[in-house]
Amino acid sequence: MAIQKVMVVGAGQMGSGIAQVCAQAGFDVKLNDMKQEFFDRGLGVITKNLARDVEKGRKTEEEKEAILGRITMSLSLEDAQDADLVIEAATENMEIKQSIFRDLDGIAPKHAILATNTSSLPITEIAAVTKRPEHVIGMHFMNPVPVMKLVEIIRGLATADEVYHAVEEMTRKLSKTPVEVNDFPGFISNRILLPMINEAIYALYEGVASKDAIDDVMKLGMNHPMGPLTLADFIGLDTCLSIMEILHEGLGDSKYRPCPLLRKYVAAGWLGKKSGRGFYVYED
Ligand code: CAA
Repeated sequence: MAIQKVMVVGAGQMGSGIAQVCAQAGFDVKLNDMKQEFFDRGLGVITKNLARDVEKGRKTEEEKEAILGRITMSLSLEDAQDADLVIEAATENMEIKQSIFRDLDGIAPKHAILATNTSSLPITEIAAVTKRPEHVIGMHFMNPVPVMKLVEIIRGLATADEVYHAVEEMTRKLSKTPVEVNDFPGFISNRILLPMINEAIYALYEGVASKDAIDDVMKLGMNHPMGPLTLADFIGLDTCLSIMEILHEGLGDSKYRPCPLLRKYVAAGWLGKKSGRGFYVYED
């Protein structure tokens, strides 16, 4: 099951990062989004990242241009007709993802693998809308994609072994480390990370310590690169809330109840870095 041609659906933060690492590994990548301005924004981020690599002497100008040359714009899912692997990184919404997978199933060649970068939606439920559930799999990249080494590879209920192995091999070609996970709420990364973040929010809510103190404890005491409240702002508080709700509902255990303070911030539109305010204020 040789993978050569890749299509990435969604040119946002995750999709553009995935397209960058695929192109860096020598794959031809179609980067798909609904409007040219979304593609342009994604390509702009990739270009900036590669320019920094050139500045730091990690790549030559020629290598940068070759990588950019392997990324082409796509504004229609019809472009999946010659893809070997499609990695979907669209909005975290089951209806949107199912609609994309239904369309891709009708367009992509029979052998093509359809992967989703979802951080918490069930792979099995996405696969169920296709006629090829054995070719559907989760490829959960971490943010920022060009930096983070992990890809959680999630087997849906029907995912075939050969599909899993092809994706595992592809992940290694991207210079990432694959980790095999079964399809349960939050997989592994978010089943562990989000309750930790939620507990940090509870500690703030209950007045146990200030936000800076909570972040300092985890940064300096546990060697985490970011404190949990800073990380929550970085992930997006709406995303954090939605993952906690998936854990709470999917596992049916009250230990996963989202902190009321998290709900309040999201209701206020304080979504973290992307909205300019979350637990911290972001000037630019
Ligand atoms: N894209 C590309 N490169 C980036 C980047 C980005 N968005 N952000 C940072 N970098 C690069 C920087 O350019 C820098 O590279 P150089 O060596 O060339 O200088 C390097 O990463 C380190 O960056 P900084 O010096 O600016 O800052 P830092 O040392 O604090 O590192 C960080 C930044 C890598 C983001 C680090 O803070 C970190 O690892 N944070 C935790 C990230 C994390 O936990 N990610 C998982 C989020 S959860 C998730 O993704 C799953 C989910 O489903 C919610």
